[in-house]
Amino acid sequence: MSEKEYKVEVKNLCKSFGTLEVLKDCSFNIKRGEFVCVVGPTGCGKTTFLNTLTCLTEPTSGEILVDGEPANPEKHNLSFVFQEPSAVPWLTVEQNIRFGLEIKKKPKEYIDERVENIISMMALSKYRDRYPHELSTSAEQKIVIGRAFAMNPDLLLMDEPYGQMDIKTRFYLEDEVVRLWETLGCTIVFITHNVEEAVYLAERVLILSQKPASIKESIAIDLPRPRDIASKKFIEYRTHIVDMIKWW
Ligand SMILES: Nc1ncnc2c1ncn2[C@@H]1O[C@H](COP(=O)(O)OP(=O)(O)OP(=O)(O)O)[C@@H](O)[C@H]1O
Ligand SMILES: [Mg+2]
Repeated sequence: MSEKEYKVEVKNLCKSFGTLEVLKDCSFNIKRGEFVCVVGPTGCGKTTFLNTLTCLTEPTSGEILVDGEPANPEKHNLSFVFQEPSAVPWLTVEQNIRFGLEIKKKPKEYIDERVENIISMMALSKYRDRYPHELSTSAEQKIVIGRAFAMNPDLLLMDEPYGQMDIKTRFYLEDEVVRLWETLGCTIVFITHNVEEAVYLAERVLILSQKPASIKESIAIDLPRPRDIASKKFIEYRTHIVDMIKWW
């Protein structure tokens, strides 16, 4: 065990809101460069878990280390995509995507090029001068995903990012996140309700139990990419995970 090997270390993490126990003694590590999907029943504490990782919520006890140190969004190069669309309402699509890069004071040429790439990757060209409230929820979510991708994060945290997307957009963006991960070598924690999505994307799937949530199982997905959702092994993984979830 070393800070070199692990990007994220979660040790005996507990979180309660008043008397409501949400996370109970969660311990696991995420390797540097790993792509981990987290699945679990509705309301079990997936978002709470991600919020403790980004320091939006204080754990009740236990700790989370990023690169061997207490998680610090100002210090660590991490991006997150929340479950609810969270584009900045008074900025246009393009300004939203530029926003994080400008805060990080990247050179203008770099920002221009990066933003153009992202706008085209997310098929947002025709909306570039529009404001988030003028767009559909799924298009707004694309802004936020684009903004996160634009930062080239070391650690990308995504909370059901594709939940609101139509199936075509979702398939396309699933491949994009894999491509980004393969290109940048970043570490990704991706929360989803969708078991097929988890098996399609992840190196490893963490299954959370019903609340108070702990890690029920950690399953390495040993399948070549691009993955074939109709292959026998794919279906075996999917069936196993669904069976685990059916117990609840
Ligand atoms: N700030 C808060 N104060 C009180 N209770 C909270 C707070 N945030 C979350 N909870 C409760 O904690 C539990 C877990 O919520 P959380 O949003 O983490 O679940 P989730 O697994 O992300 O759910 P979903 O599948 O709906 O996204 C729920 O019962 C929720 O009502
Ligand atoms: Mg949630």
